[in-house]
Amino acid sequence: MTIYDALKSDHDKHRDLLKKLAATQGDSGERRKLWQTFYYDVGAHAAAEELAFYSKLIAESDGQSEGRHSVAEHKELDDLIQGLNDMDFGAPGWMARFSTLKERYEHHIKEEEDDAFPIAREVIGADESGDIGGNFTRHKKEERGLVDEKAENALED
Ligand SMILES: [Fe+2]
Ligand SMILES: [Fe+2]
Repeated sequence: MTIYDALKSDHDKHRDLLKKLAATQGDSGERRKLWQTFYYDVGAHAAAEELAFYSKLIAESDGQSEGRHSVAEHKELDDLIQGLNDMDFGAPGWMARFSTLKERYEHHIKEEEDDAFPIAREVIGADESGDIGGNFTRHKKEERGLVDEKAENALED
């Protein structure tokens, strides 16, 4: 799988989760379950995307500015996501904050697909062999493994 297919497939999954989350009401099992899935998958996605993809883009002079822009957005999004994660699922402001996150996250992934991918295809090539895509998948698994390990340790403590 090329890096572009791998990232796009994650983005589509995130779009679907955001849409489903927007339809939840109050503190429900549905909201909790969808949020956990979104939270862990986006965390691993962003970390692996930086390691496998943006490191390559930023290493090229013509990709540097777009790459840095995306990575800066990761930081802003992470702040929003952590803030929401610390919030009570039934808090009155939950949906308002979630809507802000949804809008900004959707903007971020659209910009990656519309702006960063075309630049990357030019400066780092088409990744026809799928090497970068393979690196992404491996990094993402490692990130997920770290999170699961932390969760297990927290349960044992
Ligand atoms: Fe991203
Ligand atoms: Fe992404």
